[in-house]
Amino acid sequence: MLKIAVLVSGGGTNLQAIMDAIENGKITNTEISVVISNNKNAYALERAASKGIEGICISPKDFESRAEFNAAFLEKLNSYQVDLVVLAGFLVVIPPEMIAQYRNRIINIHPSLIPSFCGTGFYGLKVHEGALARGVKVTGATVHFVDEGTDTGPIILQKAVSILDDDTPEILQRRVMEEAEWKILPQAIDLIANGKVKVENNKTKIM
Ligand code: GAR
Repeated sequence: MLKIAVLVSGGGTNLQAIMDAIENGKITNTEISVVISNNKNAYALERAASKGIEGICISPKDFESRAEFNAAFLEKLNSYQVDLVVLAGFLVVIPPEMIAQYRNRIINIHPSLIPSFCGTGFYGLKVHEGALARGVKVTGATVHFVDEGTDTGPIILQKAVSILDDDTPEILQRRVMEEAEWKILPQAIDLIANGKVKVENNKTKIM
């Protein structure tokens, strides 16, 4: 059984997709041990509570320095002894010590086809604003392992989504979630839970 921690900052629709997929059998061999938010008002915490899943909040704002937060955050995560950490709209920079300790055991969902519209400054709606400003015809979502860079780790799954003439950033965000994110994030967890993802030379092989 793969034990996972899901890290969130906001609405938690990706968390919901994971919980639904565990319930309906699209994700197998997996249980959510904890949901961790940096924001105590995140609706994602209510979603976790409604399924009886433990939810906790740890925020950099409650610490005097980033180093103290990083140490407390890692200690908290370690206390749950999870096999995989899932970043589902988590907007805090992952401490380097955590990345090193959880090498190829942290995954992230990003709402574009990496390497487009990713990296520092590209998160949430800003990603879709960037895609619309550039006038690309296709965007999508990517699930990848987290390494020391921003959105640079080995790519696990990607799914393309068409951009339509009248799209606003909000409309496009919703379509990317519905058609891509809520599908490929659960799918990636199921693949990992069943030993089907291998990492070699910064690339993945899906078996
Ligand atoms: C999602 O669109 C996710 O891809 C994005 O934040 C949103 C969270 O929504 N993540 C990033 O931009 C990370 N760079 P949710 O809270 O409803 O799952």
